[in-house]
Amino acid sequence: MEIDLTLIGMKKGSQYETIITTLNSQNEPNAAPMGTLCADKDKILNRIFKGSHTLDNIIEKREYIVNITHDPEIFRLSTLGNLPEKYFGEKNCLKCADAYFKCEVTSLKEAVKQSDPIKKKGEAIVIKSKVTELVINNDTKAFNRGFGYVVESLSNFSRFDLVDEAKKEIYLRNFREANRIVTKIGHKQDIKAMKEIKKELIKKGYEP
Ligand SMILES: Cc1cc2nc3c(=O)[nH]c(=O)nc-3n(C[C@H](O)[C@H](O)[C@H](O)COP(=O)(O)O)c2cc1C
Repeated sequence: MEIDLTLIGMKKGSQYETIITTLNSQNEPNAAPMGTLCADKDKILNRIFKGSHTLDNIIEKREYIVNITHDPEIFRLSTLGNLPEKYFGEKNCLKCADAYFKCEVTSLKEAVKQSDPIKKKGEAIVIKSKVTELVINNDTKAFNRGFGYVVESLSNFSRFDLVDEAKKEIYLRNFREANRIVTKIGHKQDIKAMKEIKKELIKKGYEP
């Protein structure tokens, strides 16, 4: 199949929540949720903190699979423990993946982003990869968290005048964090929506 990540809704410059599957030196499978940034229609970027099995396996094998799924059970199991082997299919993809793509590492570099709350230098590695195979099992779009934050921020905004000052402060704190994340990973329309909500909060006399 043609390698074009826009076929699964991935736009250049936006980040998506994916499940990365890797093999260790004994060829045992591992899965973990990881953000995947689309750098071009056949190029991606991951930033993975040191200490994870995923990073060790990627450094060892220089290849991995990015799976697209919207199944909360897969996210839960692979974050809170180890995803059991029965969930892995042939070629080490996830059996339930709506789509997956195989990646080959082109570069590995130490990096810490200014906007990240985790500031310890040298804690993360930025991995640039080329997509060498794309498999689409079902019509699907990779999941971007931005829209969820926009809806949540709008929902809180619609209740803003109905709550006391303590709750307003909680909404403002949540908005600041949501805005930080959407600015970092969201689509243009999500970022625009957050800017507009911010303007309205300022009009009300607050500092979001
Ligand atoms: C939605 C989601 C996205 C995540 N994205 C990243 C990421 O981009 N980089 C990272 O280092 N960890 C990320 N994590 C945390 C790892 O998934 C977590 O540390 C995991 O336990 C690593 O598992 P492993 O040791 O099997 O690789 C994310 C977690 C979740 C739930």
